[in-house]
Amino acid sequence: MNEIKIFSPATVANVACGFDVLGFCLDTVGDEMTIRKVDKKGIFITKVEGFNLPMETELNVAGVSALAMYEAANPDCGFEIEIRKNIKPGSGIGSSAASAVGSVFGMNELLGQPFNKTELTVFAIKGEAFASKCEHADNLAPAIFGGFTLVKSVAPLEVLQIPVPNNLYATIIHPQIEIKTSEARAILPKEVALQDAITQWSNFGSLIHGLHTSDYPLIKRSLHDIIIEPHRSKLIPYFEEVKQAALQQGALGSGISGSGPSIFSLSEGLEQAKSVEKAIKKVYSKTNIEFDVFVSKINTEGIKIIK
Ligand code: HSE
Repeated sequence: MNEIKIFSPATVANVACGFDVLGFCLDTVGDEMTIRKVDKKGIFITKVEGFNLPMETELNVAGVSALAMYEAANPDCGFEIEIRKNIKPGSGIGSSAASAVGSVFGMNELLGQPFNKTELTVFAIKGEAFASKCEHADNLAPAIFGGFTLVKSVAPLEVLQIPVPNNLYATIIHPQIEIKTSEARAILPKEVALQDAITQWSNFGSLIHGLHTSDYPLIKRSLHDIIIEPHRSKLIPYFEEVKQAALQQGALGSGISGSGPSIFSLSEGLEQAKSVEKAIKKVYSKTNIEFDVFVSKINTEGIKIIK
């Protein structure tokens, strides 16, 4: 096999109370990438479609993670990477993560899988860090492993896979404004009050328990973020209106997807997720900001080969 085409999915990081550690994988939206083995040694970005991204390997997120793996594998060949970017950079649904994991996943397949998923995530962290100026894996891990993942530690990397309740669906609204992760991180306080930390880790623990036991009412009672959301929500127009519309429509919870501007809601059942979609569409239709909205089942497979 000399060429492979892959689907690299969008992801939701943080999931309210799990800042920098929790994430889940979407299945409706993702990038398509073609990776090709070539005789000439090195990593070459040969095509980028969809959005205007650098073609220089060292300046392209997919190139940076590919180089990290290439150095470790030291293969007797090179690789060309073509990217069909469908996830808008700065959208909050793991655009840089999809690029970062796509190249290393594809190369690993073409080399006969010398690396496991955890090792691939370690290489991808280099690409993600290049984009967001911080080594975090809460979008990378769900893109590679699928489902819900908990990044227990980044160095050394330890990823836990959390079970996905069968009937859980996400509704995502993506307002067409750009928020840079690095900027959304810069506005966060360096310290938190002990009482807030207690509330947050109690919600986080009970969310994980709710996911393990498919306890939807417990998931609903746990999807709260009292530490990050109060700061970042100011960057997202009509955030509160969208959240309230989703909750009134019966969503289990709603919050900022990654560093925004996308907003995620979780629902029990497809019908519920679709009625949340309708309700939040209504909120944004009254604004002059363009937006996309979509419903997705939680993708338990993660990144996959399409050809
Ligand atoms: N956990 C990261 C953040 C995800 O919220 O800054 C963004 O990529």
